[in-house]
Amino acid sequence: MVTPGTLFKASFDASKAFFRMPAEEFTQRTPVVSYAQPVMVPIRSIGSRHGERIATHLLALDAPDRYLRFGYAANDEQIRRYVDGLNFERDEIFGIYNRRLELIAMAHLAFSSDPELKSCAEFGVSVLAKARGRGYGARLYDRAVMHARNDGIDIMFIHALSENTAMLRIASKAGARIERDGSESEAYLTLPPADLDSRMTEMVEEQLAQTDYRLKVQAKKFWDFLTALQKVGHGVRE
Ligand SMILES: CC(C)(COP(=O)(O)OP(=O)(O)OC[C@H]1O[C@@H](n2cnc3c(N)ncnc32)[C@H](O)[C@@H]1OP(=O)(O)O)[C@@H](O)C(=O)NCCC(=O)NCCS
Repeated sequence: MVTPGTLFKASFDASKAFFRMPAEEFTQRTPVVSYAQPVMVPIRSIGSRHGERIATHLLALDAPDRYLRFGYAANDEQIRRYVDGLNFERDEIFGIYNRRLELIAMAHLAFSSDPELKSCAEFGVSVLAKARGRGYGARLYDRAVMHARNDGIDIMFIHALSENTAMLRIASKAGARIERDGSESEAYLTLPPADLDSRMTEMVEEQLAQTDYRLKVQAKKFWDFLTALQKVGHGVRE
């Protein structure tokens, strides 16, 4: 449950962060451990307008990551086909953006179209290599669980390679049952029914994430404007 204290701290931390230049962020491939972990990670639901950003995110995954994400070493064309085939009406796509509006982590909650499996949903996730180890994968999983619950889903499952320790760890920590079958594994999480708490929490979190995104858009415009102004200044001096 999101408490008023948590919201206050999240909003305070966010306003501090907007005064930092975006270039300071995520410039290395390995996670920058000196950054304090945010109290709340703004995860927003993504619509079809963000198709190009989704494609850019997935195309940035290297071959081993693509293999872990899709179960095969998807080439660029297969990734583009996957993005073009996303059903934004039926499924839910969640994302985490940095201050440069780069989609650094995303999850796809796919609802079954088979009438006999109406209460099942499949979860798939990817986090850019430079943003790993910060808990984004686990947060996206929790967010998807809450959404699936509120949508009347009973079982959320993941199809993962057995070597995918990070993914299986996220699922098993959340209480999923892991079934290994050689090199492949399935993780099944049985969801409790929705309640007032889960509905309210999802509503508040979504609103916060949308506001966070709008602020990031404004902050980016501001920094872009300032950079352009500096370039003009340099040009005039020269
Ligand atoms: C799987 C993936 C989404 C994890 O994202 P992440 O943001 O780095 O994960 P988190 O930071 O939330 O870490 C989750 C847990 O896994 C552990 N973990 C992370 N990377 C690990 C690794 N390489 N080996 C072992 N454990 C690892 C973390 O320590 C953490 O456990 P803890 O809570 O006990 O500390 C990310 O590695 C990824 O995008 N991989 C490529 C695509 C993929 O495999 N998708 C999943 C298949 S659908």
